[in-house]
Amino acid sequence: MKKDFIAITDYSSEEIQSLLDLAVELKKERLSGANRPYLEGKVLGMIFQKPSLRTRVSFDMAMRHLGGDALYLSPSEIGLGQRESIADVARVLAGYVDGIMARVFGHADVLELARWSDVPVINGLSDYNHPCQAMADALTIYERFGSLNGLNVAFVGDGNNVAVSLMHVCAKLGANFTIASPEGYEIRPDAVELGRKIAAEKGSRVTLLRDPHQAVRNAQVIYTDTWTSMGQEAETAKRMHVFPPYQVNSALLGEASPEAIVMHCLPAHRGQELTDEVADGPHSVIFHQAHNRMHAQKAILVQLLGNRQS
Ligand code: CP
Ligand code: NVA
Repeated sequence: MKKDFIAITDYSSEEIQSLLDLAVELKKERLSGANRPYLEGKVLGMIFQKPSLRTRVSFDMAMRHLGGDALYLSPSEIGLGQRESIADVARVLAGYVDGIMARVFGHADVLELARWSDVPVINGLSDYNHPCQAMADALTIYERFGSLNGLNVAFVGDGNNVAVSLMHVCAKLGANFTIASPEGYEIRPDAVELGRKIAAEKGSRVTLLRDPHQAVRNAQVIYTDTWTSMGQEAETAKRMHVFPPYQVNSALLGEASPEAIVMHCLPAHRGQELTDEVADGPHSVIFHQAHNRMHAQKAILVQLLGNRQS
């Protein structure tokens, strides 16, 4: 496997599946009360340019459960690329810690960190993608349906970082991915091209639509995310006008498969992209999904920082 975890597309379908299998195994251990110290003495440096609840705490707790530790480095402390160049930060930090997790604005920044770091770099969200989220999402879907192969996954809303990684993990694991977005907010064409290439190899499809109703028809998974991602705050007012037809509410959910689950990476903006009724209703798996961040990331950490390298 690669030294870093920057994008789902850097990994083969088999590697993604083996990370999921490891996540299932580690989750089982955790739930049975066992915490095997696969990463004893190892420390993860966590660089954040943006706020976080799930990413920060799930990585921190994953390291502790695995016998290691984590170090939180706030935006004001490091000043990535401002107080100091990214190349210098990477080379200094890599001499202290065993792995780096970074949440950045520009995707190029996490690539630059990985280029200069001797220790593994894990992408904790960039403006382009959110691969750790996608691993937790795949784990959640896998646990519910036993396989992603042949499932219909519908993303409703902004073609953002979360949508990109979800599309790619669906393609890698043979699920059909459909996204309905308003004009001007479609998923990036280069990411779609990549997704379609992978999907074609697996016999699945990537479909871009305008109509959310059409997207959810026959879907087993309905996914949504914020209308305004971190870094886009100046566009909030405009987006609040554009996105309301893309709200995931009971009416839209009623058009999906009866067994459908509703997913959201969180934080949710209740009353905007998702209603309370759906978020707290019987189809919602949003908290299960959030908890799976920790289990999925443990597999990534053990694979990259541990002695289980293949
Ligand atoms: N889903 C997710 O990445 O949440 P945080 O922004 O709280 O880390
Ligand atoms: N698309 C959202 C995800 C937050 C976890 C953002 O980038 O803000």
